[in-house]
Amino acid sequence: MRKITIKKILSQKNKSPITCLTAYTKNIAKIVDKYCDIILVGDSLGMVLYGMKSTREVKIEQMILHGKTVKEFSKRSLVVVDMPYKTYISKRIAYKNARKIIRHTKCDALKLEGGKNIAEIIKFLVKKGIPIVGHIGLLPQTSSNFKLQGKNSNQRKKILNDAIEVSRAGAFAIVVECVVENLAKEITETIKIPTIGIGASRYCDGQILVLDDMIGLSDFFPKFVKKYSNLKRNIELSVKRYVKDVKLRKFPFNKNIYK
Ligand code: KIV
Repeated sequence: MRKITIKKILSQKNKSPITCLTAYTKNIAKIVDKYCDIILVGDSLGMVLYGMKSTREVKIEQMILHGKTVKEFSKRSLVVVDMPYKTYISKRIAYKNARKIIRHTKCDALKLEGGKNIAEIIKFLVKKGIPIVGHIGLLPQTSSNFKLQGKNSNQRKKILNDAIEVSRAGAFAIVVECVVENLAKEITETIKIPTIGIGASRYCDGQILVLDDMIGLSDFFPKFVKKYSNLKRNIELSVKRYVKDVKLRKFPFNKNIYK
């Protein structure tokens, strides 16, 4: 079993699609680790695990707790942890928080949302030896509306420029979220580092989804999600069967009893 390195991720551009999923817990990390190149401990955990209204409520301590667990139970995948909202508002604050997350989680890289506006911060962190994944297009930490990005030429220019600035700043990959297909293609063809799409078409160098969405646990199903299973229905069926068995005194069965 070989640990996935940043060099390997970079080498996959234009060659072999990069596979990524989110994980926030031990059991999921152990499964995803067997198959994916990258595991993202995304700040989507705020909504997915804690029922928050947005990722803006997520605290650094939550990212550290989940990041530490995921990293501990991932032997192969590259583990990337999101820096939460407002933890990278200046170079000094970003560096202090980045070091804190890395020290506690031992993760392989950090992800920051933003383009030109945070390029100097990314450059600073990279210079200090911290591997960074960018995130452009739809930015859940700061967006007021969750709409498709890059529909008009001004937006297109801005997002393409964001991609160029983030890659020049030294990020080794960029998540491109919810942009029109031909913009994702142009970004992927323009920059030298891999693009990892979520709602950003097959033209990206890799794909990422929130695991809970693709296994059918979430209530939220945007068009770009493919449901690979319906875990919510399976869990519900299991709970119903268990309750029925208990009510009928069928559970515990003989084999579940200590004699
Ligand atoms: O927080 C997250 O899970 C993410 C992915 C949606 C890319 O940033």
